[in-house]
Amino acid sequence: MLKLENVSARIDNVEVLRNISVDLPAGSIVAVVGRNGAGKTTLLKAVMGLLRLEEGDISFDGQSLSRVKAHERVLLGIGYAPQERVMFPSMSVEENLRFPCQIARYSKAQIDESLKLTLEIVPQLEELLPRSGAALSGGQGKMAALGRALMVGSHMVLLDEPFQGLAPALAAQYSDALQRLHQKMPDLSIVITESNAGLLKDIPDKVMYIERGALLPEPAASESTNQSAVGAQL
Ligand SMILES: Nc1ncnc2c1ncn2[C@@H]1O[C@H](COP(=O)(O)OP(=O)(O)OP(=O)(O)O)[C@@H](O)[C@H]1O
Ligand SMILES: [Mg+2]
Repeated sequence: MLKLENVSARIDNVEVLRNISVDLPAGSIVAVVGRNGAGKTTLLKAVMGLLRLEEGDISFDGQSLSRVKAHERVLLGIGYAPQERVMFPSMSVEENLRFPCQIARYSKAQIDESLKLTLEIVPQLEELLPRSGAALSGGQGKMAALGRALMVGSHMVLLDEPFQGLAPALAAQYSDALQRLHQKMPDLSIVITESNAGLLKDIPDKVMYIERGALLPEPAASESTNQSAVGAQL
């Protein structure tokens, strides 16, 4: 489904992704855990085409994305909930949700169908639909960002630190939404980044670790002490 081969990228001449190779199967929930500045956001931006690769290739469903522009990746059924959420403040929440589908040239009927499915998965959004995109709390914004990713993410969704800053009750609602999503769409691939592995509970099928831009199957020695300390606090 999503395959990264030897992906490296630089920002301001600093190597922020280093030789990342990974093959994520369809229908899996994969977490990428790493501390602040490790490269989680950069990795998701690379998949979304928001960052030029220095080296390597990213392919999706067997198709190289090297010539697929960022806005065209939506057409492939990839939804993205960025860490900083970004709802358009001049549009209602419903307009924000419909917007990526319009970019992807869905028909009105397809958009309605997508919205119906999204509301089944994230029912909390129903009452927020008429609100301004500027009038959401941090937690509501995270829910809306998940909904917006689901509107177009028919094959894969990338969620950047969805649990960061969520109150426990909202975090539980968010996990429930992910479980419903996994049940309703078992072939959908979900990639979740987190800096605090303890927040993920038992959601991921597979956890990978990122440290200074490199993807590791196990936490590095210094990280593993850190992770168990985090786990012990929770
Ligand atoms: N726009 C930028 N300009 C300069 N450096 C950047 C920029 N964006 C990211 N970096 C650097 O790239 C590295 C990876 O950053 P990234 O935002 O991907 O980390 P992250 O794991 O998402 O961190 P966080 O947990 O804080 O969200 C960091 O060293 C960061 O300083
Ligand atoms: Mg980040």
